[in-house]
Amino acid sequence: MNKNLNWQKHAIKPIDRERLMEHKSLVIWLTGLSGSGKSTIGNSVEKQLYQKGIHSYLLDGDDLRQGLSKDLGFSEHDRSENIRRIAEVAHTLRQSGLVTIVSTISPYKSNRELARDIISDHFFHEVYISCALEVCEQRDPKGLYHKARSGQISQFTGVDQPYEPPTSPKLTLPTDKLNIEQASLTLVHYIVSKVKEA
Ligand code: PPS
Repeated sequence: MNKNLNWQKHAIKPIDRERLMEHKSLVIWLTGLSGSGKSTIGNSVEKQLYQKGIHSYLLDGDDLRQGLSKDLGFSEHDRSENIRRIAEVAHTLRQSGLVTIVSTISPYKSNRELARDIISDHFFHEVYISCALEVCEQRDPKGLYHKARSGQISQFTGVDQPYEPPTSPKLTLPTDKLNIEQASLTLVHYIVSKVKEA
């Protein structure tokens, strides 16, 4: 850390913003394989929260890789830097009072633990979007598994790179057993119980 830098004191504290919003803030960290349903669930949850008057924002891995992280690839090092950046943004959005939903593969436990450190354990809610690799591969919504299997892309999660499932997530949503509506509703209930609790 550069010794010539200082943290600025904000006149408005996160708790003041929560009062204004009339709900608490937190980070929902959706992790899972490509094709597991992270983005679809994230979008559906964001819409339902909006309808309930809960202020939220979805940070989606695929989107962020076209801006914030467009200089990064999919090596272990680059994924780690990608997650660090996303965690910093999520931390800032959370502090601004938003229910922040992150949807990113984040395949390495150590990277998710780094995100937890940046965001702080109290606000970090790891949600595992679990789905068997064979099912994700069958869905293959973007044709990426096909490209990975045929050697057109490399370093693909689940094919030639690992995915380390969470060991104690706050919530697991098995999308090979639940449909998107059921999974989203479960997550919405979870979020509401946390942000509206006394
Ligand atoms: S990570 O591991 O968290 O840094 O990945 P993430 O930022 O979530 O980006 C994943 C999306 O990038 C597309 N894509 C790949 N994913 C995994 N491995 C490789 N090699 C790869 N190349 C491109 C893919 O569309 C991922 O989006 P989702 O929504 O997960 O399918």
